[in-house]
Amino acid sequence: MPVITNIQDLHRIYRRRVPRMFYDYTESGSWTEQTFRANSSDFNDILLRQRVAIDMAGGSTASQMIGQDVAMPVALAPVGLTGMQCADGEIKAARAAAKFGVPYTLSTMSICSIEDVAENTDRPFWLQVYTLKDDDFMQRLFDRAKAAKCSAAVITVDLQMLGQRHKDIKNGLSAPPKLTARSIANMATKAQWGLGMLGTKRRFFGNIVGHVKDVKDPRDLAAWTAEAFDISLDWDRIRQFRRMWDGPLIIKGIIDPRDAVEALNVGADAIIVSNHGGRQLDGALSSIRALPAIMDAVGDRIEVHLDSGIRSGQDVLKAVAMGATGTYIGRAYIYGLGAMGEAGVTRALEVIHKELDVSMALCGRRDIRGVDRDILMIPKDFSDRWQ
Ligand SMILES: Cc1cc2nc3c(=O)[nH]c(=O)nc-3n(C[C@H](O)[C@H](O)[C@H](O)COP(=O)(O)O)c2cc1C
Repeated sequence: MPVITNIQDLHRIYRRRVPRMFYDYTESGSWTEQTFRANSSDFNDILLRQRVAIDMAGGSTASQMIGQDVAMPVALAPVGLTGMQCADGEIKAARAAAKFGVPYTLSTMSICSIEDVAENTDRPFWLQVYTLKDDDFMQRLFDRAKAAKCSAAVITVDLQMLGQRHKDIKNGLSAPPKLTARSIANMATKAQWGLGMLGTKRRFFGNIVGHVKDVKDPRDLAAWTAEAFDISLDWDRIRQFRRMWDGPLIIKGIIDPRDAVEALNVGADAIIVSNHGGRQLDGALSSIRALPAIMDAVGDRIEVHLDSGIRSGQDVLKAVAMGATGTYIGRAYIYGLGAMGEAGVTRALEVIHKELDVSMALCGRRDIRGVDRDILMIPKDFSDRWQ
């Protein structure tokens, strides 16, 4: 087994082990992928201020997100089709997160269902919900989350329409996937992945198939998905969802301070500054660049979280120092999952934890909860370069 010291190592193994169509699904952004790239590269514009000769013994990365204890302020983001990256992927990722002491967020578009993940893990997870038209389905989704003891709901508000990813179209990656001859030939070369898939029954959208009136089997999915997403979504509709769910609520997909204020007014417990990992509006601001204006607008009134572009503990440290109470990783743990299953997700978390812990100490700080902007050197025009 190769020595894994960073997320890029996991990425290299992931690329070899997982069929090309699922690798491409993860590793793309929409259209020119400008925002996808900027999400990560913009972190490099922020520098960390090195301090020395400060007692660094007894450091702690432990914190809280929406009042829940976390071993570090990093949650696993909702990722659709996780169970196609590795057999039973959602269950494996949820287990790794639970053992590490960080939250796991299950996507609406997961392969393993809410009930399945609840039965196979022993710590509550969070459920991400898309804003769909079908009221019945939405109410049942929240009820199912309650019955499964989910400890928060995450409503994703940046997917009224789907941004276009060229590779997915060319690979036939739609719901359900249309396999091309090339994809089938490529899958045949991924022995470990194939064996896993042959050994599991979990191969379709577990939260949808059998839970929607007209979707009895996977072949009915295409018609349903084309109709399901709500192009007329507005903040009143999001208020209705708030009424359907009385537990902690997180609103995901905010980049503009005006939308942050709207989310606050809905009564959310937290917002996630996110552009969906650069998969929706290509040309949008990166999340880390969007964060300062959002902190100014709502930071003292609501918990602000951030995702998109995080590949290291240093990235987490920068986001927290700029005011985020928590962060999420998407691709970083999917690389681990595809590379090595549950152990790979654990490895991704260990890598990020160590980077966070050591970098925090080298900035002269012992407690993540006390980290502030003073440890950063930020270019003067970082957040207002574009007006
Ligand atoms: C392959 C993939 C699938 C995703 N599926 C979902 C989803 O089902 N629901 C959702 O809210 N976000 C989804 N996202 C967005 C992630 O939750 C998160 O915002 C993004 O991955 C963060 O960026 P990062 O991958 O650079 O960490 C997906 C992201 C990826 C890469």
